Amino acid sequence: MTHRIVLPRIMEIGAGAIQKMPDILGVLSCQRPLLITDPMMVQLGHAGRLTDILETAGLSCAVFADTMAEPTEDSLQPALEQLKSGDFDALIALGGGSAIDTAKALALLEARGGCMADYKVPRIVDEPGLPVIAIPTTAGTGSEATRVTIITDASTDEKMLCMGLGFMPMAAIIDFELTLTVPARVTADTGIDALTHGIEAYVSRKASLFSDEQALAAIRLLAPNLRKAYHNPNDRAAREAMMLGSTLAGIAFSNASVALVHGMSRPIGAHFHVPHGLSNAMLLPAITEYSLSAATARYATCARAMGLARETDSDDVANTRLLAELRALNAELKVPTLAGFGVKESEFMALLPVMAEQALASGSPGNNPRVPVQEDIIDLYKTVWHQE
Ligand SMILES: [Fe+2]
Repeated sequence: MTHRIVLPRIMEIGAGAIQKMPDILGVLSCQRPLLITDPMMVQLGHAGRLTDILETAGLSCAVFADTMAEPTEDSLQPALEQLKSGDFDALIALGGGSAIDTAKALALLEARGGCMADYKVPRIVDEPGLPVIAIPTTAGTGSEATRVTIITDASTDEKMLCMGLGFMPMAAIIDFELTLTVPARVTADTGIDALTHGIEAYVSRKASLFSDEQALAAIRLLAPNLRKAYHNPNDRAAREAMMLGSTLAGIAFSNASVALVHGMSRPIGAHFHVPHGLSNAMLLPAITEYSLSAATARYATCARAMGLARETDSDDVANTRLLAELRALNAELKVPTLAGFGVKESEFMALLPVMAEQALASGSPGNNPRVPVQEDIIDLYKTVWHQE
């Protein structure tokens, strides 16, 4: 049995890595990039700084700055028109997962045509698109190092999972200084997303020795630093650890897949517009409790990597602490309940069969250590609804 590992060709990692953008374009033989970003990146000055760096190096860079959170097929169209109207040879994505996922989708649509529904799983998209250079500004979705993009089909409220080599960025610039301005809420949500990637990759049925090592390294970086980054946004050491942890967790899950938390999270995001990391956080304790019995030793190893138990503690002790920590983390990071977020109970309950079906169709629940059927997923959604 072998495992095919796929990574970006270049990862430029560290404080000030964004300065290397012109050099990276040169190495990739690209001269005419289109920057895909969002209004917040313009407001914070990150987009202007990047275009200044390129201009100083003698490169011009057109900008599309209207990407949406949780991108839809429709939201891609204005950017696609701009992309088609010019002679661009690369896309630079600057922002959180939404900007990076948008650029990955555009890269395929421009090069291969069609619509995103043509590219969703079970199809595996190994054809190359335009080169994408991803610059994450959150820690994070890990999208800079994954062969995955998520685009919502607004007509069905389905978050379409699109996978394959074609969605792997050619290069990633992993510069934690870009995360120093991230607000506490986003730090919490994206940080729990990254931690979830590490845990789900480690317990996934598709895990390998390679993904295990990336996942555990990610968990060791993320778990002790998430609270620090949340409470002290200028803690550079915590921000650096979170950023690298997020990328490593991305590498882990891109090569091992995510599992039931993500499978159930996407429909909540699509139907109720709960930010991705937040819906993961709402689900993580209950889904972990449901799944524990099928991978006791693996979850206990996660607990130890999080610093919750010693090698000499039993797996049961480690896992009891893991569940307690996941709940305590949500409380400290002020993760609301679904009702607290504003989801209406009647709408949530009415959509349960559809959400469970969409969760199963994504394939992610099949990677979970304990594989649920549709009724199990409905029961789990109800459990999550009723949790404090
Ligand atoms: Fe995620």
